[in-house]
Amino acid sequence: MGALADLFAGTAPGAGGIKILAPGAALLRGFVQASLPALLQEIEHVAKAAPFRRMVTPGGYAMSVAMTNCGEAGWITDLGGYRYGATDPQSGRPWPAMPPMFRALAAGAAKAAGFDGFEPDACLINRYEAGAKLSLHQDKDERDFSQPIVSVSLGLPAVFLFGGEERRQKPARLRLESGDVVVWGGPSRHRYHGIDPLAPGSDPLTGPYRYNLTLRKAL
Ligand code: SIN
Ligand code: FE2
Repeated sequence: MGALADLFAGTAPGAGGIKILAPGAALLRGFVQASLPALLQEIEHVAKAAPFRRMVTPGGYAMSVAMTNCGEAGWITDLGGYRYGATDPQSGRPWPAMPPMFRALAAGAAKAAGFDGFEPDACLINRYEAGAKLSLHQDKDERDFSQPIVSVSLGLPAVFLFGGEERRQKPARLRLESGDVVVWGGPSRHRYHGIDPLAPGSDPLTGPYRYNLTLRKAL
């Protein structure tokens, strides 16, 4: 509980407070605020080796969100389905290594939300431009559902939809700002979630984009 107490005391880096969304789910406002420029540099470094691309769903539609990955495994979708793979299908090379800072911030955020010992091995990097969205879905391609999802927001704000375990349950709508982190695991691990179409804008750091890091223990 040390990190949680720090957050309430405002002593954690960039702490903006913690909002419990549901059992096992928390929004950590401004948790990575102080690290935003460094995080963006790491994203740009990853994207040099593994460029952002709009992947195709199993149904044959190009996603509006552009994606890349770093870590031992990367999340991919194509006509063959959704899965994790060790290599970038575009280059045939392994995904770029996960920057140590990503691991550290994810472990710290997970701990603050009550999940000790989180060791992500996969980081999906989403890039949204105006109009891009992510329909309600569950994260369920990972092997170990005892481990949470840690989701980091950078750049333009977005409306995060956070629903229940069934698609028909009406989702809560939460505005996510640059530097916010959402963690969901335990009893919330299979909640539906998504992102409303991004409003156009210009962020001082990321310009016309919103980036999202989704850190997972996939293998
Ligand atoms: C995701 O569900 O993979 C991303 C959510 C987000 O962009 O905040
Ligand atoms: Fe997701």
